[in-house]
Amino acid sequence: MKKYSQILGTGSYLPEKILTNFDLEKIVDTTNEWIVERTGIRRRHIAEKHETALTMGEKAARNAMDAAGITPEEIGMIIVATTTPEKMFPSTACLLQQRFGIAGCPAFDLNSTACAGFMYAFSIADQYIRQGAIKYALVMGSEVMSRIVDWSDRTTCVLFGDGAGAVVLGASNKPGVLSTHLHADGTHKDVLSLDHSIGRPIDVEEELYIKMTGNQLFKLAVNILGDLFDETLEANSMKKSDVDWLVPHQANIRIIQAMAKKLDLPLDRVAITLEDQGNTSSASIPLALDKAVRDGRIQHGNTLLLEGFGGGLAWGSALIKY
Ligand code: COA
Repeated sequence: MKKYSQILGTGSYLPEKILTNFDLEKIVDTTNEWIVERTGIRRRHIAEKHETALTMGEKAARNAMDAAGITPEEIGMIIVATTTPEKMFPSTACLLQQRFGIAGCPAFDLNSTACAGFMYAFSIADQYIRQGAIKYALVMGSEVMSRIVDWSDRTTCVLFGDGAGAVVLGASNKPGVLSTHLHADGTHKDVLSLDHSIGRPIDVEEELYIKMTGNQLFKLAVNILGDLFDETLEANSMKKSDVDWLVPHQANIRIIQAMAKKLDLPLDRVAITLEDQGNTSSASIPLALDKAVRDGRIQHGNTLLLEGFGGGLAWGSALIKY
């Protein structure tokens, strides 16, 4: 039996349309300076009307499978992390199966782990591969966040963007994914939420958009991620200096800087896409990974630390020999 799962290929899709901070100045009471200084974001991609988590996800998935050199028929499991699926069911993953013309393998969405969704999906796929149950898994995050932000709320609408990122994991004898770590704490349920749901109590008013207490979430994120790094390194008897690359969830440049400092990593060893993409929720980690892999910054043999956090709160990490 193969001992590890290994990242065999990565892929991305970003919508063509770009919304800059200057465009946002015309929509809400904000400034380019405020957004850049407080978040690090300058622009974000916005899906066209016809684009969805499914259409974007299909493109990212095909890129990842091409990079891995495998065909859809070889995939043994599909997991799509998305807070913004086209339908409650069938899942985006099942709709992808149909588009790929394959059937039989397990396919499901992770809808409610928000920005931590990719880490949850990645960890589940890794477990199945380690157990020898499957050989290849397609794991992705795909989001149209532009459809769940309130475009009149300056505290949230400036933060998010749309896109999809995918990874193919495959069984390997050589060290690949060394460990994954998942956590959640529902006591922080009100810090970040999207109350909209078809199954809500019938006397509860419909809430269509993301609600967030940004400064509280900021402090929580810095604390939980610091502890998560310690846990991840200790589980592998590794030191900070063993980490070559941090591939973080892209929520705020100040959170990313704090995390780089925690690892004593210079910022040029952190995969950052925030400036051009904003926060694409569950897509942000695979998008950042794919960019750094494709432009040659991340090399085989590098040790990568991936981390994500989001509504729940939920958070998770993976330590990987790439
Ligand atoms: N433009 C201008 N001013 C804005 C603004 C905007 N887009 N958004 C908020 N402000 C104002 C606030 O109204 C507030 O004004 P006040 O002092 O008059 O009340 C002021 O800026 C400071 O707000 P605050 O929320 O304390 O700012 P902040 O420095 O914490 O930055 C975030 C706000 C959202 C950028 C930051 O808290 C953050 O990134 N938090 C983490 C969010 C996150 O991780 N989200 C995703 C999780 S998956």
